[in-house]
Amino acid sequence: MPKLIIANWKMNPATEGEAVELARQSDWENVVVCPPFLFLRAVGTTLKKASLGAQDLFWKNPTGAFTGEVSAAELRDLGVKYVIIGHSERRLNLGETDEMIAKKLAVTVKEGLVPVLCVSEEWPEQIKVDFSQLIVAINPERFRILIAYEPLWAISASSEEAVPDTPEHAVEVISGIRNLLTAMNYKFNVKFLYGGSVNWKNADRYLELKEVDGVLVGAASLIPDDIQKIANYAGEY
Ligand code: PGA
Repeated sequence: MPKLIIANWKMNPATEGEAVELARQSDWENVVVCPPFLFLRAVGTTLKKASLGAQDLFWKNPTGAFTGEVSAAELRDLGVKYVIIGHSERRLNLGETDEMIAKKLAVTVKEGLVPVLCVSEEWPEQIKVDFSQLIVAINPERFRILIAYEPLWAISASSEEAVPDTPEHAVEVISGIRNLLTAMNYKFNVKFLYGGSVNWKNADRYLELKEVDGVLVGAASLIPDDIQKIANYAGEY
């Protein structure tokens, strides 16, 4: 199965025109482009090969009195296929808790979207809460869930000195997460990504690993040349 590149644009760029241009230059097989909500429609119509992803969603569905929030049904209507959930920037800056993330995970799966659940070095606690309700309530065999291991200190925006985790340690953590989920008796199809300071120079060190099914890329996904090179690596495996 080809490896997946999730391009997390975060709160970039500032205008729809720039978003469309970046989308045009990021339109490669195996890439999932996750722009800000505002640009989902424009980016979605621009992409021909890449898939569309969102950076978050709300746990109530499909509509309701929830000012400022966006539902899974609304995202699906825009052609969104993947949703990033529990990114550390939301956990830290907005106080998102594992209980909130667990509800977001459940609604994403129920609505037929693929969650990209981000966990940091606190993964054992996060995974236990994030998944426990889902396993008890649904435990769907046919759904695909992506788990992105992203250590906080490796995310490029966290500090100027941020460095990626080593591929060896990322594999160790990913195996630990798989074992934890096995102990929780999960049934769904889980794939693992690594994220944190991934760029075109180091991406293949993660993509070549059989334990790693793809990468979650932040800053480098805003540089068209870089995302193209990373997408080329992904196609080789
Ligand atoms: P980075 O971000 O690639 O800029 O380190 C990754 C992320 O936060 O998802």
